[in-house]
Parts: sequence; C-alpha cells; structure tokens
Amino acid sequence: YTIKKFHFNVEWKNITRLCHSKLVLTVNGKYPGPTIDVNEGDNVHVTVTNKVAMNTTIHWHGVRQLRSAWADGPAYITQCPIGAGKAYTYKFSVVDQRGTLWWHAHFSWQRASIYGAFIIHPRTPFPFSLPIYPANVPIIFGEWWNEDVEIVESEMMLYGGGPQISDAYTFNGLPGPLYPCSDKDIFIQTVIPGKSYLLRLINAALNDELFFAVANHTLTVVEIDGVYTKPFATTAIMIAPGQTTNVLLTADQLPGPTGIFTMAARPYLTSVFHFNNSTTIAFLKYQTNPKSNHPPIPPYPIPQNLPNLEDTLFATNFLNSLKSLGSNKFPCKVPQKIDKQVITTISLNLQDCSSNQTCRGFKQNRFFASMNNQSFVRPWISLLESHYHNQTLRSSPGFPERPPFAFNYTGVDPFTENMSPSFGTRVLRLRYGERLEIVLQDTNFLNPENHPIHVHGHNFFVVGRGFGNFDAGRDPVRYNLVDPPERNTVAVPVGGWAAIRLVADNPGVWFVHCHLEEHTSWGLAMGFVVESGKEASQRLLPPPTDLPPC
Ligand code: C2O
Ligand code: CU
Repeated sequence: YTIKKFHFNVEWKNITRLCHSKLVLTVNGKYPGPTIDVNEGDNVHVTVTNKVAMNTTIHWHGVRQLRSAWADGPAYITQCPIGAGKAYTYKFSVVDQRGTLWWHAHFSWQRASIYGAFIIHPRTPFPFSLPIYPANVPIIFGEWWNEDVEIVESEMMLYGGGPQISDAYTFNGLPGPLYPCSDKDIFIQTVIPGKSYLLRLINAALNDELFFAVANHTLTVVEIDGVYTKPFATTAIMIAPGQTTNVLLTADQLPGPTGIFTMAARPYLTSVFHFNNSTTIAFLKYQTNPKSNHPPIPPYPIPQNLPNLEDTLFATNFLNSLKSLGSNKFPCKVPQKIDKQVITTISLNLQDCSSNQTCRGFKQNRFFASMNNQSFVRPWISLLESHYHNQTLRSSPGFPERPPFAFNYTGVDPFTENMSPSFGTRVLRLRYGERLEIVLQDTNFLNPENHPIHVHGHNFFVVGRGFGNFDAGRDPVRYNLVDPPERNTVAVPVGGWAAIRLVADNPGVWFVHCHLEEHTSWGLAMGFVVESGKEASQRLLPPPTDLPPC
C-alpha cells in the first residue's frame, strides 16, 4: 500500500468576513483547511505541528481507525493534546472505506475554523451509473462569528447559557451576498450544461443542523457519511453537524440570461432557545457562451424548494428515505441479533449550582447536558492510555445501561422531570465483537431538540426512529433489519428516539457525543471501551512513540 503524507501547521491567520477582521485558527493558513485526498487502502500520515500558544488535536471524522485508536484525535479520550510548539504524526489506513468524510480540530471549540474535507477514492467504480463530470468540489457548511470563538465559548461555559449566535452560515468559508459586506465572498460552483456532478456536502457548523437546496434542481442522494445509499431524488436535504451527504446534480435547466441558480442553506431549528436563523447562499453557474457572462444581479432569490426553519416533516421524510445499498458488492451488515442493549436519555438540564458542590465548580444556575443523567466530565488524562496500561478505567463505575428511572420522557410538561445530572467520566465496557444496540431517547427537559449523535471508531445502522417514547414491545418489531442506513452520526428526532446497532470490532476507547458543540461542552457525551480480541488482528496496536504526553 501507498503511504500518503500530509503536513498540517496549526496557525493563526488574519481573515476578514462581514467587514470584520480577526485572527482565526487555521491549518496552513487556509479557511476552510486543505482537502485530504487519498485512495481506498492507503496509509495516511498527517504530521500536525502546533504553532499557536494553545493545545490542539485533529480528528478524522468517520475514519474507522481500525486498531489505530491512537490516531483518532479527541483530546483526553484517545490522546493528550499537542502542546504549543509540538508535533504529532497521525498514522492510520483507510481500509474498506470510501467516499466523503472530513476532519476537524477536537479540542475546545477550535473546529469552528479548523476543518476540511477528507475524500477517499473508491477502488471499485461507483455503484451508480451516471457519467460524473469531475466537479467533485467539496461544499463545506460552516459558521462565522465576528467575535473570537474562544470568547464565545468561554462566555457560554462561564454563565451556562446558550452561546452568542454566529453571524453567518458559510459555503466553504464564504457567507454569500445575503449578509452585510459579503458581495465578493460568494462560493461559485461552475457547471457545464447537460453534465452531471457529484456534490460532496459536509456540515461543519458548530451548533446547527441545516437544510440545503439548489433552485430548480433535483438532488439525487447516493452516499451518506461515506457509505453508499440507494439513490433517491429529493428537492432538498437535511444535514446535521458531523454528517456528510453526496448528491448527484445534473445541469439540466435552461440557464436564462445570467446562467445563475442560487444554492442555499439555512438551519433546521427544533430548539426554542435559538440561534441564528439566517440563510446563506452560493451560486451554481452554468458555463454558457463566455461572452454573455453577466455578473449576477441582486436580488438573489432563496430557492423555493429550501424547507422552512422548522420543517420537521421534511426532515423526517428525508431521513426515512435513506436506505443502505444492500448489494452483493456492498452488502448491508446490520446485526440481526444483539448481545447488549443500552437505552439512554439525551437531555439538557437546568442546574441550580448556587449551593451545589458538584457543578464542576460553577456557582450559578446554568445549563448542563447529559446521557442517562450522567453529565460527561472530560478527564485530564488520556482514557485510551489509561485503558492500555490497565489503569483507572477498570475500577471506575460503568456508564448506566438504563435511564435512572422511567417517566414520560417526551411528555408535555418539560420542567417536572428536570433531574439534576451526576458528573463523571463513565464509560461502557464491551467485549471484542459484541453486538450493541443503543436506543437514544430525546427528552423534554428544558426543551426537546434534534440532537446529532456521533460515534467514534465505528459505523452504525439506524434500525429505527420515531417520535414520543421508545416502546420496547412495539418498536423493535418494526425495525429495518434489511437495508437500514449506515452512518457515523444520527439525527435523533426531536421529541423522539433513534435505535442504532453496531458491532464492537475496533479495540480502543471511543467517544460518543452530540455534534452540537455547545451540548458536548455541557456534557452530552459518553465513551465506550472495546477490549482487544484474541487474534493478533483484533488487538489495539501499541501507542506511537511520539504520542503527546499530558
Ligand atoms: Cu466530528 Cu467527536 O467528532
Ligand atoms: Cu445535542
């Protein structure tokens, strides 16, 4: 196999958007960062050199890291951070994986600006037949703050309320002309009339799920989170932070005088506490006769096929339409039976910390978040090293496999059951090869919300989803065990539940968390340990010699 080497310098760069200039954390001075382009089966070496005066790590979101958990990246889970002036080389291979994934910083809120695409070119041809014209430009959605994100984050943690909302959503770092001072900061995708393109869409926004649509064009979804799907045509998509979606688009419309169609993204809002409700646009530009190249003229209409902010019906129908391929070449490996079932609530909690000594040192009423009432406290050691050296993880209590008590999770009175969470670093322990089902149950504590839950080191199958309370008698009977979508981040329905299944075939310690950064900061996370198996090929490799110390 080929070794592909990359060098990432984490450094400050002065960047101006919406007429505000500020220093932004970047990789190699790029915002968004460079694309990693590799082939299925490659060995990837990324040397990350930290040139700023704070810690950092990089996570390769969706890369399985089979036996190479040391290269996964979440700070204090699989490694201690890379200190100022230090370097660490992430070494891993991309085996039996293909498609669009991404990478981002996994320390603090640094992923606000440290992110980029991670593309694995397949060894075998695409399972869909359209001749693809090589556009292949990743489209990464993000958020821009005029304020320093470090300040936004620390204020949110200090006073425990929602963060100051972002000032713009972006296409590849560009807000587009609907925002002040942004007429030149427009992402433009050019296309040749009649050709088909594969658009690689990535949601890197910190705190918002998004809808995306292209005026007058149909999108055919063919891949989610780096796994092929049964192609299906849709007027728009919903994409949660952490998720990727590949769609085919054919430039089959009459281009009109300007040859411009707007592409747009806006949030899917399910929380009552919110948030930036603006819309970002970019242009799809037909390359017609170059002499008649009109510049785009305002006003720029928002595509009529872009769903409204609260369109849960659209989001539900869209997500329910995603099916895995289940072909001979790409069989659906969903476990038909399970060894362990974990049912966990996902909640926001309002905590009175004035007299409570367990509020992680905070002293006023504030928000936390929890799973099964455990608010995850990030440790100051690397859990993976601790596990590898047989230390503390053995003795600490495991993550609870059931909610602390049963109640009407999604009932109408959200405040009556606002439990005070416990704080700790609880992990679930799994044997090698154990087949796990996790039922993720949203709750009405404070408010119900659609939470994108991400699992590190494993893909999973979304075998069921629904609204209201999960019913252990009725719901499993209706699971899709034939062609459920396989992915690494699931949007749990607002006021509902999702059931996922995975095989714990990757030894190590793995983070599970909400990909709304705010919720992770408040503790909406857990971890699980997968023991090494008996065979040599089932064991975690030893730690690399340059692994950063704590
Ligand atoms: Cu994309 Cu733990 O993250
Ligand atoms: Cu969340």
